[in-house]
Amino acid sequence: MKLTVVDHPLVQHKLTILRDRRTSTRSFRELLRELAILLCYEVTRDLPLEPVAIETPVAPMQGMQLAGKKLVFAPILRAGMGLLDGVLELVPAARVAHIGLYRDPETLKAVQYYFKAPVDVGERLVIIIDPMLATGHTAVAAVDLLKARGVKNIRFVCVVAAPEGVAELQAYHPDVPIWTASLDERLNDHSYIVPGLGDAGDRIYGTK
Ligand code: URA
Repeated sequence: MKLTVVDHPLVQHKLTILRDRRTSTRSFRELLRELAILLCYEVTRDLPLEPVAIETPVAPMQGMQLAGKKLVFAPILRAGMGLLDGVLELVPAARVAHIGLYRDPETLKAVQYYFKAPVDVGERLVIIIDPMLATGHTAVAAVDLLKARGVKNIRFVCVVAAPEGVAELQAYHPDVPIWTASLDERLNDHSYIVPGLGDAGDRIYGTK
């Protein structure tokens, strides 16, 4: 079980503006993209490297490059899309798996409506991206889907996590490490994170 809270000052500063109810849709989207870049930097910190021979204008040398197959970013629709541009900016050659899951408002259970991943997704590292880890039901369902397609190496990145969601994901999938910019206090009666930032999807797309 592993939870990393990224406490970098830039992350914390941007997160505070992101949370603020006065922040506009436009700024929210931009901040989320910037946070995605910073979180992506942390979650990829230990990726394996391999040596590669190159020549600089001055001399031959042995450089290092990322080893193995290109990694996969897996946004959980729709709010996960708010993080996709940022992570792809940092890892432009990455592949993308779209995971369509929504929370049934009555049962709060995750319902799948879309899934499209690279055919060989099972041989790649998959980094799930979703701004909010609330109850953990959606995160668990996303990992279930990926594991059913043979994925063995999965990481989860969010911006705000609730203790309940972290506990749920770690109970069902203890092999999936989590990166977040904040571990908040709790969930409220509507399963929103407190203090959180509200509904991430609505704030990204201006739908409320
Ligand atoms: N999803 C959100 O967008 N916000 C929350 O607080 C919880 C789940």
